[in-house]
Amino acid sequence: MTETLQNELGIIGKSREIKDLLDMLTQIAPTDISVLIYGESGVGKEVFSRAIHHLSQRKEKPLISVNCGAIPEGILESELFGHKKGSFTGAIDSRKGYFELADGGTLFLDEIAELPITTQVKLLRAIESKEFMSIGSEKVTKVDVRFITATNKNLQVEVDSKRFREDFYFRIKAVTITIPPLRKRKSDIQIFSEHFLENFSKRNNIGQIELTSDAIDFLMNYSWPGNVRELKNTIETAAALSRKNLLDRSDFIALISENKSTEQNKNVPITLRKSSEELEKEFLYRALFELKKDILDVKELIINSQSTSESGKSKEIETYDIKEMEKELILAALSKTKFNKRAAAQLLTLSERTLYRKMKEYNL
Ligand SMILES: Nc1ncnc2c1ncn2[C@@H]1O[C@H](COP(=O)(O)OP(=O)(O)OP(=O)(O)O)[C@@H](O)[C@H]1O
Ligand SMILES: [Mg+2]
Repeated sequence: MTETLQNELGIIGKSREIKDLLDMLTQIAPTDISVLIYGESGVGKEVFSRAIHHLSQRKEKPLISVNCGAIPEGILESELFGHKKGSFTGAIDSRKGYFELADGGTLFLDEIAELPITTQVKLLRAIESKEFMSIGSEKVTKVDVRFITATNKNLQVEVDSKRFREDFYFRIKAVTITIPPLRKRKSDIQIFSEHFLENFSKRNNIGQIELTSDAIDFLMNYSWPGNVRELKNTIETAAALSRKNLLDRSDFIALISENKSTEQNKNVPITLRKSSEELEKEFLYRALFELKKDILDVKELIINSQSTSESGKSKEIETYDIKEMEKELILAALSKTKFNKRAAAQLLTLSERTLYRKMKEYNL
């Protein structure tokens, strides 16, 4: 694939692994074959799903992305297939489902392992017959939809433990694309880091921020359990907290969980009477508190320097943005659990579906 096309698709990376994936994409995208994208959390499954749609003849038609893990089970089927007015309490209007909205285009079903078995049966039937009935309707609707699914779970294991239907599994995995974790394509780490820094600088209207070779070395040797998402957040947080335009190793050490745990042990007295769950929560709140303090320090510094130059008087600022706090808390929980969303949801006492929804809301 040419570099121009790769840029157009918004896919970053020069590693052999990425090049091979892009070549595969060029081959399979124009066909109607169902694609299952497999990879750890944050490797870029959604990015690749968009690329497949964009490279297909369906690109002028809609790409509908559905996170199967984020929709409450009770309304999942009505969201997928639509419903007729009055078909159940609360159905005050008829509504088209995602299936119909994607007609002529692509339906991307993310976190497919979270789909309940009963819905898998209905979906399989709809995929095979290319038609479906919306809830409460007796009319069959024909659709022409290409399917892309994604998961970070091993679906064979899910099938073996009867949580996933084998026939559905075979149907969706006509082609499987595996996106390797970042630690297996280390040569991309520097490219990603520089790209995220450039975006950050542009967005905030500041001069270009660079990395020392020590910082690059450090970033390349970390395992990135949260993959590109974790790298992006780490880079942006480091850039926001640092007051320099050259980031060094030390700017990252405190942010990265592998090191955080050793720093943590040194500084925080831990009462052994507490349950591990309580300790985890306490850790999160402390981490948040520290982060909030840092952010406030930076804000104060900026305001002080601005107001000193303007009026010679300094202003005190204090903001507590609940959404920002919630986002930070979610990030801290993800980082603490090495980006295992189920564990992070438990730590935050949220349902996994709510966590998925919030991650989408905060663009995490
Ligand atoms: N190759 C890539 N080029 C550019 N950006 C990327 C690439 N891979 C991942 N990203 C960025 O990393 C973040 C996570 O990517 P994405 O949401 O596609 O991951 P995912 O595999 O779907 O994660 P999850 O399993 O949590 O759903 C996004 O901000 C995305 O833009
Ligand atoms: Mg995703």
